[in-house]
Amino acid sequence: MALLEIDGLSKEFDGLRALDQVSFATEVGEILGVIGPNGAGKTTLFNLISGIYPATAGEVVFQGRSILGMKSHQISRLGIGRTFQIVRPFQNLDVEMNILVAYGHRFYPDLWNSMGHFRKNEILKEVQGYIERTGLQSYRKQLTKNLPLGIKKRVEIARALALKPRLLLLDEPSGGLRFEESGQLMDLIRTVRDQGISVLLIEHNMQVVMDLCKRIVVLDHGSKIAEGSPEAIRSNPQVIEAYLGKSLRPEEEEG
Ligand SMILES: Nc1ncnc2c1ncn2[C@@H]1O[C@H](COP(=O)(O)OP(=O)(O)OP(=O)(O)O)[C@@H](O)[C@H]1O
Ligand SMILES: [Mg+2]
Repeated sequence: MALLEIDGLSKEFDGLRALDQVSFATEVGEILGVIGPNGAGKTTLFNLISGIYPATAGEVVFQGRSILGMKSHQISRLGIGRTFQIVRPFQNLDVEMNILVAYGHRFYPDLWNSMGHFRKNEILKEVQGYIERTGLQSYRKQLTKNLPLGIKKRVEIARALALKPRLLLLDEPSGGLRFEESGQLMDLIRTVRDQGISVLLIEHNMQVVMDLCKRIVVLDHGSKIAEGSPEAIRSNPQVIEAYLGKSLRPEEEEG
């Protein structure tokens, strides 16, 4: 059974079709790439799946159950975690507290009371586990606002993991990162997948997406224009057209 099934998903903003009848499915244990030019509808897709915006039409089924119309916090509790294109950790909390707050969301509204104060050490130990899994040991007590972007992005992934997701939506995790930082983040995403968490990955860097994903969905102007292996996507004329635009076609470059 597919983990996540999207069927005919559409979103209109004031007459603009940001997403138009998009359908695809994610399997358990895969990293599925979502690519497309600026404004293609990638972030909108994530916003619909995670319940930030209501859909105009279509269906989203997670683990056999429709999640359309549910609130964001309900969806995250069902097991869909996400990170944002623009990082948004709590800047004035340290790394550990950031993860702890995310962890606490599972037991909202009152972490310590609902868990029982005696469990505090146990909880901090679990948080420590997320810190280790994401390679943040040396940043544990540092204020998030002082950290470089690559580390902030790790904090975001740690926060998402603390919600114990089955599926993680990552919106351009390597955006703004240096080559080396980006490589480290991709290693982390691979590790997350190996731990049994499926990943939906929006990514601008083609090399990154081709390396990480066995299957890629391509959006353009809100529509799905292709789906397949990296090899098939790379040589798909519609995809090349969408990315390069007419003025960059080889014959025109020569002329
Ligand atoms: N809240 C909103 N209100 C109105 N229009 C929106 C809103 N969110 C997105 N859009 C529009 O929907 C279209 C798709 O935007 P979206 O952010 O999903 O694209 P994207 O593929 O994530 O682009 P990028 O690669 O630049 O992040 C764009 O035309 C955008 O301006
Ligand atoms: Mg986007």
